[in-house]
Parts: sequence; structure tokens; C-alpha cells
Amino acid sequence: MTILELTTSCDPRLNVDVLVLAAAHIDQTPVLLTDGVVNQGLDFTALATALPTTGFTGELDAVIRVPSSVLGSDVRAVRADSLLIVGTGPGLAAGSGDETALGADRAGVLRRAAGCAARELAGMDSAAFLLPADDLDDLRAVTEGALVGAYAWSGRVPAPTAPLGRVVVATALADSVEASAAEARAIALAEATALARDLVNEPPNRLTPQTFTQRARAIADDAGLGIEILDEALLREQGFGGIVGVGQGSVHPPFLVRVSWVPENPAQRIALIGKGITFDSGGLSLKPPASMPEMKSDMAGAATVLGAVLAAARLELGVRVDAWLALAENMPTADAQRPSDIVTMRDGTTVEVTNTDAEGRLVMADALARAIEDKPDCVLDIATLTGAQIIALGDRVSGVMGTPPLRDEVARCAAEAGEAFWPMPLPEHLRSALETPFAGLRNADISSRAGGMLVAGLFLREFVGDVPWAHLDIAGPAYNEKSPWGATPVGGTGAGLATLLALLSDRGRRPPSEPLR
Ligand code: BES
Ligand code: MN
Ligand code: ZN
Repeated sequence: MTILELTTSCDPRLNVDVLVLAAAHIDQTPVLLTDGVVNQGLDFTALATALPTTGFTGELDAVIRVPSSVLGSDVRAVRADSLLIVGTGPGLAAGSGDETALGADRAGVLRRAAGCAARELAGMDSAAFLLPADDLDDLRAVTEGALVGAYAWSGRVPAPTAPLGRVVVATALADSVEASAAEARAIALAEATALARDLVNEPPNRLTPQTFTQRARAIADDAGLGIEILDEALLREQGFGGIVGVGQGSVHPPFLVRVSWVPENPAQRIALIGKGITFDSGGLSLKPPASMPEMKSDMAGAATVLGAVLAAARLELGVRVDAWLALAENMPTADAQRPSDIVTMRDGTTVEVTNTDAEGRLVMADALARAIEDKPDCVLDIATLTGAQIIALGDRVSGVMGTPPLRDEVARCAAEAGEAFWPMPLPEHLRSALETPFAGLRNADISSRAGGMLVAGLFLREFVGDVPWAHLDIAGPAYNEKSPWGATPVGGTGAGLATLLALLSDRGRRPPSEPLR
């Protein structure tokens, strides 16, 4: 893990390899951001003058490395050999309303810039981040961005270029209590994000429901979390027809795992449900070849809730968190479920499986039904659930549906955490897509793709009773097949973790006497 240090010291001889600065793109030219920067006694005038002649314009995610000699007369005082300037695009003043709601407010832009810089510095030992960080929101953004951006998939063979080894953040707040809290939060978020990304990147021949369960057990043991494991025999015995049905076509049997953080006198009890399809071939409703490789990421929801409960424990949050991992592999072998099979779910609902590729809602519904038996104060599920999410919102904006107050709370927490979640409706008229003459519900309307993300949300709604509920569809954002951007690498992204952590810590602070929604 990348080491994080905060410093107020104005000593220009900071013992690091690189100094990181940010520049905005204003009137086609780069403008160095120096407000709120602990400048270590350095004079950036020469750099600010030279920057426009380099071809670097300060555009979002652009970076330039320059030798530290551009600092002119100060150069002998600087240990670092080079500077990295990262572009923020337009300045840090609030952007459009939509961008702010999508997490790209001032803090979001700083988080992205710090993340981009840290990502670009892979292979280096150390860097000092001289970014605006003299108020707490800015400091949080810079520390979180830098640590989350400093990532490489630890399972890769041959080994990847090592992530940046040490992040030093210069801030006037360094010795305050709030700064240590921000530091702890950044470390916990980065650890959880790396875990989620590592799991998503792991190929499905190496990450089966069983090996995922073993990883969860090792993490639970290490972090002092409770764990309960239901294997296939128990799932059958206890009526989890959805999970068993999806898993029965695979030689790797399904599991349902509960990982719990239980503090003393918890303010609330929150259930998190994660979709954990270790590979989604579509089953007998087979996917086309081009859609398949990405389906190793179909367990991203489970990886995210495992990361979230780990972070809750590391930060000793005041809420009880039960993370449910609904793990199965969706394969089309001889005993696979057939389109038209009818399964009986944990809560007794019968479901006609009209499309075996709509498997996520089957495993999620069983896990939701089980989770609400414990009477949580609220339940959040997160899943790479529908291709329709990508059609509707693209691959960087997730959808959030559910009980309106909780749905909007998720969107708010996301914006604060620098993530993009957009509230989507659950229109009653679409509920008829789930009707069938043969069972209580069907899992898909094979004749219409209209509102596919919302229909999936309506299906899940059937299983949450009257518990406040939010459904997070991260199908696009969970996995980055294109170029890296901001703190987001190629492959698993950890999308949703910062949002869940923001919500959990928020609710951990709320006194138990306050009425719950
Ligand atoms: N795992 C997929 C959704 C998905 C698609 C995630 C693309 C990430 C990228 C899910 O199990 C699925 O196949 N959904 C179907 C549902 C349909 C059959 C009702 C879909 O979206 O096509
Ligand atoms: Mn599917
Ligand atoms: Zn799936």
C-alpha cells in the first residue's frame, strides 16, 4: 500500500522525487493553481511564466513532467528532480449544476487531479502534492484522490509497474484532529478500493464463488469481522431457489456469504447486498462472444460491499454493517436452468426464468429477501445489473433507484464523495413487464427492452418489503475498458465504494435518537 504523510513544513528540501502541482485551462492557457497551496517557500513565478510555452494547456487529465530547474534560482533548494503538473480543465469554481451533482465540484476536480497525478507517477518512490489543501474538503479530496489513484493490480504476472510508493500532502491543517480523520478515511477508502479492483481484475478461472468466499473469510479474520457462509447444500435447504438456480449450470457451486461489522451500541443496522456473478456467460440465453470478456467483472457489486464492510471496520464506524455476497457462476452446462424454468425464492415468491441472462436479479432477490429478515434500518444493493444502465447513462454514470428518500441520500452522498450516481424512477406502468400466467413473477420481458434498468429495479423492489431500500446499478462504471482517467485505472474501478463509505460514516454519526427514514 502507498504510504500517506501530511506535512505543514515549509522546507523546500522535502525528501521526495517529484513535486506535483495543478494548473487550470483558462483562455486556452495553463494557469498554475497556487491559492491554498503550502508552497514550501518556493517561488513559482518562473514556472508560471514558462508553462504556456510547453504545449501543455491545463486540460482535464493532461499532465506534463518538467525538470525542477524551471524553478530558477530556487532550484538548489529542491531535492526533487522533476515537477509534474496536472491539468484540472476549467478552474476550481463551481461548474454546471449537473457536473456538481455528478461529483465534479471543486473537491471532485481536485480529487480527480490528485488521482491522475498519482496514477501517472507509477514506478516512482515518492511525491509531494502541492495542491490546494488548506481547507478540510480540499484536503480530503487530495488525500483520497492520490491514494485511490496510486493503484496497480497486485495479481498481475508479470508484475505491473509498482504504484507510487509514498504520497506527501502539504497542508496547513497537517497537525489537526480533522486532518488525521481525513488521513484515516483516505487510507481505508484506498485499501477497500484496491481490494475491490483486485477482485474484479482477477480472471474467472481463478476467482470462483468458492475462492471468493475464501478471500472473504481471510479478510474477515484479519479485520475482526463476523462471517457466515451458506454453501449450496444450505442454500437449497433454506429455500434460496434463485441463487441455486443460477449456480446449478456451473461446476463451481454458489455461495451466499454474510460479512458483518458489529460495533458496540450501533446507531443503526445497514444491509449491503452485492451481485457476485464470477462469470456471466448468459447461461442458456447465451451472450454473444464480444460481450463476454467483460463479464468477469459481474461480481463487482460483491467486491464493493466487501470493501465497504472492511472500511467500516477499519474506521470503527458506529453502524452495524452486514455485507451480503451473492456468489454464483452463470454457465450453460447440461444441468443449467432452462428458459421457462420456475424457481421458488427465499421469500416464497415463484419466478419464471424467461431469460437466464437476467440472472443478477435472481441472486440479488434471494439475498435481499434474506437480508430484510434481520430487520435492518435500510438496505442498499449494488450490482452490474443491466446493459440498459449503460444505454441510459453511459459508462461513467451509475443509476440509483429505490425508496425516494434513501435513493436521494445515495445521490447526495455520491456527489459529496466525488462519484456520479443519477436518480432514476421506478414507474408503475413498467411493472406489467414482470407478469406471467405461470408464476408470481417472471425475471424478464423477452419481447421488450424498454426501460430495462428500471424493470430490473422493479423486480428487486418485490423483495424488500417495507424496508427503506436503494438499488445501485453500476454495470458501466464498475469496469473501465477504455483509457484511464482521473483516479480510475483500466479494469476494475471500485465504483460505488466512496459513496457507500460516505453514507455509512454519515449514518454512523447520526445519534440513535434521531428518527430514521
Ligand atoms: N451482467 C449483465 C449486465 C451487464 C451488461 C453488465 C453489460 C455490464 C456490462 C446482466 O446479467 C445481464 O445480462 N442483463 C441483461 C438483462 C436482460 C436479459 C433482461 C441485459 O442487460 O441485457
Ligand atoms: Mn446476465
Ligand atoms: Zn450478469
